[in-house]
Amino acid sequence: MRTIRWENGVVVTVDQSLLPRRLAFISLRNPRQVVKALKGMKIRGAPLIGAAAALALAQTAYKLKGKPKEKVLSELYRTARLVKAARPTAVNLFNAVDYVLRKAEEYHSDRDFAQYVVDVCLGFVEADAEINRMLGIHGAKLISPKDRILTHCNAGALATVEYGTALGVIREAREQGKSISVLATETRPLLQGARLTAFELKRMGVPFKLITDSMVGYVMYKGLVDKVIVGADRILSSGHVINKIGTYTIAVLAGRHGIPFYVAAPTTTFDLETPLDRVIIEERDAKEVLEVQGIRIAPRGVEALNPAFDITPPELVSAIITEKGVVKAKPDRIRSLLAR
Ligand code: MRU
Repeated sequence: MRTIRWENGVVVTVDQSLLPRRLAFISLRNPRQVVKALKGMKIRGAPLIGAAAALALAQTAYKLKGKPKEKVLSELYRTARLVKAARPTAVNLFNAVDYVLRKAEEYHSDRDFAQYVVDVCLGFVEADAEINRMLGIHGAKLISPKDRILTHCNAGALATVEYGTALGVIREAREQGKSISVLATETRPLLQGARLTAFELKRMGVPFKLITDSMVGYVMYKGLVDKVIVGADRILSSGHVINKIGTYTIAVLAGRHGIPFYVAAPTTTFDLETPLDRVIIEERDAKEVLEVQGIRIAPRGVEALNPAFDITPPELVSAIITEKGVVKAKPDRIRSLLAR
């Protein structure tokens, strides 16, 4: 399933906040609407956030076709600032914006500048689908027939332009005829696992069971998990993996039980510049913890913490699966993979 499309200046995408009750597409007509959809979690998942950011820049250029380069460029920088403030943790957003701006600065041609920028943005989005397909092919080599795979949050087609990362590996392994099954965590507080991963696995026809986040230790102890595959929002040069809150707990438990813990992420999710202590972990509204789907579950006056992501150290990561191949979470290996 294609999660996001460009239709003559309009960004058409799934409203993920409505799933699984309703599969509805929304039309976003300008960068402000795209940013609102990002903040409101209608668009979420690191690669998709990057694609949406690129399309917001495309919208800016699209409206300025035929205008001088300086004018288009200054509007692009204005949109870039707006978009970069949408969410702080998924580096795909920053990588997408910086990629488009770099290409725009490099422009040397007689073609209309704005049209050139639109093409750069659409090319970036198109590449995401192909990248995920390749990632799935590399990842599927790690999967054995009958593997029981645990995944967390949603790293499926819904989190990307198409195919997905962790779920892309699962999809590819299935297509190769491996009769695998999945345990999907519900992923509190926003339930991306229960709402989105369950929706996707059902459509894919993959046998799976949903578990609450707190069941992970028990199912591993009972020998019900052969491998863990999760996505990522940012991978540092040190090999630290930033992903949905709860990932670190799962990695610790996988280590305790000797279960391989894989991270599936495109190279657009790597951040070789930011040191660990400078990474911003998004803190979301406490209401998301105090409520479930709008229904209050804690007494009035109770306070809550709500960090949306956590950090898994490299020693707990068995390998990182990318579109360029599978790599150990080690600085030299990561740098040489990205240089390929
Ligand atoms: O807050 P979200 O739903 O945007 O967080 C999503 C995740 O943490 C995913 O695991 C990650 O982006 C990888 S998606 C291929």
